[in-house]
Amino acid sequence: RTVYVNGDYLPETEAKVSIFDRGFLMADAVYEVTSVLDGKLIDFEGHAVRLKRSLSELQMAEPCSKDELLEIHRKLVELNGIEEGLIYLQVSRGSDGDRDFAFPSEDTKPTIVLFTQNKPGLADSPASKKGAKIISIDDIRWGRRDIKTTQLLYPSLGKMMAKAAGCDDAWMVEDGYVTEGTSNNAYFVKGGKIVTRPLSTDILHGITRKAVLRMAAEAQMVVEERLFTVDEAKEADEAFTTSASAFVMPVVEIDGVTLGDGTPGPIAKRLREIYLDESR
Ligand code: PDD
Repeated sequence: RTVYVNGDYLPETEAKVSIFDRGFLMADAVYEVTSVLDGKLIDFEGHAVRLKRSLSELQMAEPCSKDELLEIHRKLVELNGIEEGLIYLQVSRGSDGDRDFAFPSEDTKPTIVLFTQNKPGLADSPASKKGAKIISIDDIRWGRRDIKTTQLLYPSLGKMMAKAAGCDDAWMVEDGYVTEGTSNNAYFVKGGKIVTRPLSTDILHGITRKAVLRMAAEAQMVVEERLFTVDEAKEADEAFTTSASAFVMPVVEIDGVTLGDGTPGPIAKRLREIYLDESR
């Protein structure tokens, strides 16, 4: 695989980042995951805008222009022959060669790394046909989840808790209300109405969420953005999640409670179809 690091395209075994990099030592880094379908980037613009915002919220320098970023994405897709898959992009604050809690000097260059993940069959995945089983866990993350940082230890532990329980993923709950999934936004459907948490600093402003809510409105579906509890979601007709890595993923079970007949619901299936059609 050819990867990109700080201006160079290199074989993955030759790419190097300093051990003092603050991304490595302190998770002082932000990231984006963009999907690729039929060799084309899905919603690059949305990801580029969110990256800029994440960087600015953390007073981190932009490593390059949006046009250069697009060029790097396209070149990696081409060099690695990606038809279906993902591109991971990470920008960290870099380092001035030592460990310190205070930021390094202003002229320290951010570290930028991109790599592709080839995922043939992503759009047609067996997992999306089965639907996901979810457990709920406490949300103990920090309070700025709207910034896409690489502080992913808790979501990673959540995923492992789900696996240990024989499930696929976890939804996080704070003050009695669902925030989001470990790596996706969360929705349930009751009586034809789609319910999802409103945007705030409590959740990531999903690029897929934005697209799917627009498509739902265009398809005359009713969407309500409000707080909701796990109990409400358990009583739903169906549920689903959205993310760049799994598009629209039906949810068929929450904390051992089967939703509907235990297969992906009609609205989740329809939205997945519309999303994949329109993105291509
Ligand atoms: N995760 N919420 C969280 C906590 C996420 O990590 C993600 C994305 C989303 C969905 O955002 P988007 O639709 O822009 O992908 C919501 C990526 C895919 C990841 O960490 O791999």
